[in-house]
Amino acid sequence: MITEEQIKNALQKVFVPTAEQSVTDLNLVRKITITAEGKVTITMASTALSQEVQDFVAAGIRAALADFKDTAVSIEYVEAKPEELNDVKQIIAVMSGKGGVGKSLVSALLAIALKRQGKRVGILDADITGSSIPRMFGINARPLGSETGLLPVVSESGIEVMSMNLLLPQEDSAVIWRAPLMSKAISQFWTDVVWGKLDYLLIDLPPGTADAPITVMQSLPITGVIIVSTPQGLVEMIVKKAVNMAQQMKKPILGIVENMSYFYVPELKKKYELFGESKGAALAKVALAPLLGQLPIDPELARLCDNGDIEHYTNESVANLGKALLAALETKTKSG
Ligand SMILES: Nc1ncnc2c1ncn2[C@@H]1O[C@H](COP(=O)(O)OP(=O)(O)O)[C@@H](O)[C@H]1O
Ligand SMILES: [Mg+2]
Repeated sequence: MITEEQIKNALQKVFVPTAEQSVTDLNLVRKITITAEGKVTITMASTALSQEVQDFVAAGIRAALADFKDTAVSIEYVEAKPEELNDVKQIIAVMSGKGGVGKSLVSALLAIALKRQGKRVGILDADITGSSIPRMFGINARPLGSETGLLPVVSESGIEVMSMNLLLPQEDSAVIWRAPLMSKAISQFWTDVVWGKLDYLLIDLPPGTADAPITVMQSLPITGVIIVSTPQGLVEMIVKKAVNMAQQMKKPILGIVENMSYFYVPELKKKYELFGESKGAALAKVALAPLLGQLPIDPELARLCDNGDIEHYTNESVANLGKALLAALETKTKSG
C-alpha cells in the first residue's frame, strides 16, 4: 500500500507554473489521508490558483502518482489565506536613508549569496515607485494569481520575487500614488502573496525614513535590518537617520554594508577610494552592529544589473557578504 512518505516525495515534483516552485515548497499541500483500503485524498490550498491552474496542478499530481496503479487518488481544494500558508523563517529589511546608494543591489546580492548556500530565498520589492529588482534579475513574467492571492515569479537561480513592476502594464509605467496606498501595496505583498516555505525573505525598501519603511517595520515580523551606505560624508549623515529610525522602532540592526567603497585596478593591484576614506567601520560603531562587507565599484556589476544578469556575478565579495550575514544572524539568535 502507498505510504504518506511516497506521496510527499511525489508532490515535491509537482510544480506550479510561472512560480516554478513545487506545491510542497509553496506549502499548498494541506492534508494527506490514506484510508485502510488505501484510498488517498490530497487536500490542497486553492490560494492564488485560478481554476485552470488548479486543474493543471491536479493533473500534475495524478501524473506524479501514476506509478501507484492500484491507488485511487482524489484531490480536493480548500480555501486558505496566503498568510496561513506562508512559513518564512527570517525577514530581513534592507534600508538606507538615501536613494542610489545600492540598496536594491545589496538586497539582490544578499539573496544570491544565500541562494548559493542552498537556502530558500525571496525578495519583496517594497520600492513601489522605483522598483529595480525585476530589471536586475531579468524578470518580466507576469505573476499568476486569482482573487485569493498572488504567486511570486521566480528568477533563473530560483529566487522568488514580487514587485510592483511585474504587475504594471509596462516596465516603465509610472506609479503615481499617495503614501497610504503605497503602504497598502507593500503590506499586500506580504499578506496576499504565497511565498510558501522560505528560509529568508529580503525586503528591498524605498529610500528614506518615511511611510513605506515605517509600514514594513510595523506590519511585518522583521528579524532585523541591514543598512546600506557609501563612503560619502553626506550619505553618512542621512544613513545615520536610518540607523536612528531602526533603533527607535526597536528593530535589531544586523549589519552595515558599505557599497562603492573603492575601485580596484587589477593591472596596478591598487585600490582607489574614490569617495574618500571608508566610513563603514565608524557607522557600524554608531549602529552597534558589524560591518558585513565593503563592495567595490565594479563596472562589470553595473553591466550585469543593466542586462538582467546579476545572478551571473561571481566576485568573491558576494560569498563573503552572505557568510557575514549568516554569522550576524547566528550571533543575534545566540544573544536572543
Ligand atoms: N558597487 C557598484 N558597482 C557598480 N555599479 C553599482 C554599484 N552599486 C550600485 N551600482 C549601480 O547604481 C545604480 C543604483 O543602485 P541601486 O541598488 O538601484 O540603488 P538604490 O536601490 O539604493 O536606489 C544601479 O543601477 C547599479 O547598477
Ligand atoms: Mg532601489
